[in-house]
Amino acid sequence: MRKFVHICDSAQSLAEHARDWLVAKIQEHQSTSVSPYSVALSGGSTPKLLYRLLGELPEGDIDWKRVILVWGDERNVSWDHSDSNYRMVRESLLDHIEIPAENVLKVPDAGGEPQRAAELYEQILRDRLPTTPEGLPALNAVLLGIGDDVHTASLFPFTKALNETSRLVCENWVEKLDTWRITMTAIWLNSADDIAFLISGSGKNQALNTLWSDRKDLNAYPAQAIQPTSGRLWYLVDRDAVGDIPLPQDCTARPIDAS
Ligand code: 6PG
Repeated sequence: MRKFVHICDSAQSLAEHARDWLVAKIQEHQSTSVSPYSVALSGGSTPKLLYRLLGELPEGDIDWKRVILVWGDERNVSWDHSDSNYRMVRESLLDHIEIPAENVLKVPDAGGEPQRAAELYEQILRDRLPTTPEGLPALNAVLLGIGDDVHTASLFPFTKALNETSRLVCENWVEKLDTWRITMTAIWLNSADDIAFLISGSGKNQALNTLWSDRKDLNAYPAQAIQPTSGRLWYLVDRDAVGDIPLPQDCTARPIDAS
């Protein structure tokens, strides 16, 4: 089985479980491989608590010199802008860990040119990440959130990036937000070893229900397009997000906080 649902009692215990989950993945990799472990970080608000907990880990729990952090998506803003996913990660995690600057691969601030930023970023990641047997830059872990409209990363409903079949990173015009985004494409995200959705709160209940429903429409519900090519898919969720939604049949379910 390659799909797993871990259900936590609260947002706090979900963040703690996600921290432990990621630490275990990194430690497992670092014990068996000399190659760096790459993590594609999610933006938004949900992962902030996880990033803060990672920043509070005892020194030595993670050898950050052998971890490469990249962004699954970014807003088309400068690195110090309040909307920047890089700034959010810098404040919640990077300012609190000893990670070499060259291991933090943020989306280039291409002066507002989204296509140039996307093309530059893809080249940077192709140059810096190890290459998989399939010839793709290796993504070991991908962290994702989900929006109320069932978008993930910056793959929004009915947007051009959903139809991208060759580029790994692309610019994406999001009409409803009247803004450009830069995002990894589904074909690249799906190549990861471990893809984890981090979903918390009753506000996500409807989106999660759609994500798990049998009614598939990848244009209308982009998060449904996240299906690992050969890796594992993890739904790290809390009880408020799940509510009374029936769990997907093709998943192994595990209540983490079951007393
Ligand atoms: C972003 C994220 C986006 C996010 C969802 C959920 O750049 O905003 O990549 O896909 O994960 O919008 O956001 P919240 O965690 O804030 O609900």
